[in-house]
Amino acid sequence: MSSSKDPCSSAASSRGNWGSKLGFILAAGGSAVGLGNLWKFPYLAYSNGGGAGDQQGAGGFVLIYLLAVLVLGLPIMIAEMMLGKRTQTTPIGAFESVRPHSLWKHVGTLCVITGFLLLSYYSVIAGWTVEYTVKSVTSEFSNYDQAVSEEMVREQLWHDFVYSSEGEAALIIELGQKPESLSKALTDPKLNTLKQVVTDQEWKRLQQNEEGQAKLSELKKTLYPQKLFSEFIAHPWKQVLWAFVFLAMTVGVVIGGVSKGIERWSKILMPALFVLLIVLLGRMLMLDGAGKALSFLFRPSFEMVTASTVLNAMGQAFFSLSLGMGVLITYGSYMKKEDNLVSSSYSVVIMDTLIALIASVIIFSAIFSYNLVMKDGGTGNLFTAMPVIFMKLPGGILLCAAFYILVIFAALTSAISMLEAVVATFVDEFKWSRKKAVYIISAVTFVLGIPAALSYNLMSNVTIMGKTWIDFADFLCSNWFMPIGGLMLSLFVGFVFTKKDQREELPEAHCKWFPFPLFRVLVRYIAPVLVVVVLLGMLFGAIQ
Ligand code: PFF
Repeated sequence: MSSSKDPCSSAASSRGNWGSKLGFILAAGGSAVGLGNLWKFPYLAYSNGGGAGDQQGAGGFVLIYLLAVLVLGLPIMIAEMMLGKRTQTTPIGAFESVRPHSLWKHVGTLCVITGFLLLSYYSVIAGWTVEYTVKSVTSEFSNYDQAVSEEMVREQLWHDFVYSSEGEAALIIELGQKPESLSKALTDPKLNTLKQVVTDQEWKRLQQNEEGQAKLSELKKTLYPQKLFSEFIAHPWKQVLWAFVFLAMTVGVVIGGVSKGIERWSKILMPALFVLLIVLLGRMLMLDGAGKALSFLFRPSFEMVTASTVLNAMGQAFFSLSLGMGVLITYGSYMKKEDNLVSSSYSVVIMDTLIALIASVIIFSAIFSYNLVMKDGGTGNLFTAMPVIFMKLPGGILLCAAFYILVIFAALTSAISMLEAVVATFVDEFKWSRKKAVYIISAVTFVLGIPAALSYNLMSNVTIMGKTWIDFADFLCSNWFMPIGGLMLSLFVGFVFTKKDQREELPEAHCKWFPFPLFRVLVRYIAPVLVVVVLLGMLFGAIQ
């Protein structure tokens, strides 16, 4: 790496540094822990586990995810931080300073593009959590009785019937064979007459006596959040407004700089998040469905594993650990020379994985305790399932507010890192002031986020490859840009850095839990080959 900058260069000090190792770990952990852990991991586990109806279990997905984290996530995280720490600069400059005037710097450019795109739609979903905090504080969830239509109740009754053993037997008689899938049976026109008969009967039964009416009111409690959620995402201006509010919070932190903004806020938000999470976990483990949640998540079950499960697990490992987007190059560039890359990466990986698992236990305990079935494959679990549970628990309003505040904190620390990676690049490369960079970049991101905010309403008919803009942007970032960025990073650190360069950053004393030869094999061969296999699988349609 003959032309690299001197790693001891004092240029770094004017860019800012982490005040302490803990500060760095909390900031990098804050970047990793986000909607990916609280929203995406549980819904991927749910859908890859076959959903609650089929009861197959997500153990296979969880195991593959853990493997992906160890074999891909950990070495690429170390490589990414190493590049930043050694060059003390941001994505584009980092590649350029090691290999000047080469095409490598465009990996940095890809990181910046991913940063813009990711933050633009991430702030839309994060904005939902702000709306939901307001909804819980204003007790909006308790108005369920007035608003749920008979039709919604009937749909749910039909659903419960189809998924019951009595229903299954009736479907076999009606169709002359076992239905291919219960979720398809829900909308099968051949079953319309049966549906009418069953729901009429059930509806009448519920009206008959007090017991039935109590059951009906319980049912409405379950349905109301679904109605609220679909009404909310159908509101174009609300989506835009909350994305704006969330971005403004992010700007408020990033404008303060590395140690006075990002580090200081990470030290407040992350411990608060841990406390809230543990309190919620304690409460949810007391519910009846907790045992079922644990076995759904952890019982090794491979019936549901397909090529897509592997892709989903790998894509999620990249997303959840914030890899392949330059965030860790940027955060690594604020590290000090003596900082330990291995122990820092372990801390971030363990924190991130534990929180994804704890969040899933919380969400599945809730879902299974009240027999909720997520008809949207689980994407709505954070917004449609959780309020149901909270409404039913004593002190639920408080717990509900605590829950959504926790999600805001997690999303905020992640958004901060995305904005910082792009801002720092413009500061380093174009010598913009931090203020100018923060305002201009967040304004552009906000505008870019508008089609994402409109994807569930005004633009719901506009699709690319069958996906709405927000889903397409997520697909591009999580399944393509981040894995490609990660692939390039591991090749760069694996082959362009000399063994001596790598050794200097990973001295013997730091490598007790991650032997240096293992790092080299993983970063040079195993991680790149795995990423390439999955990308090719996607390209040729073997993996969807
Ligand atoms: N890791 C974050 C999450 O799990 O929500 C998302 C993320 C943050 C991805 C920063 C990429 C990134 F650079």
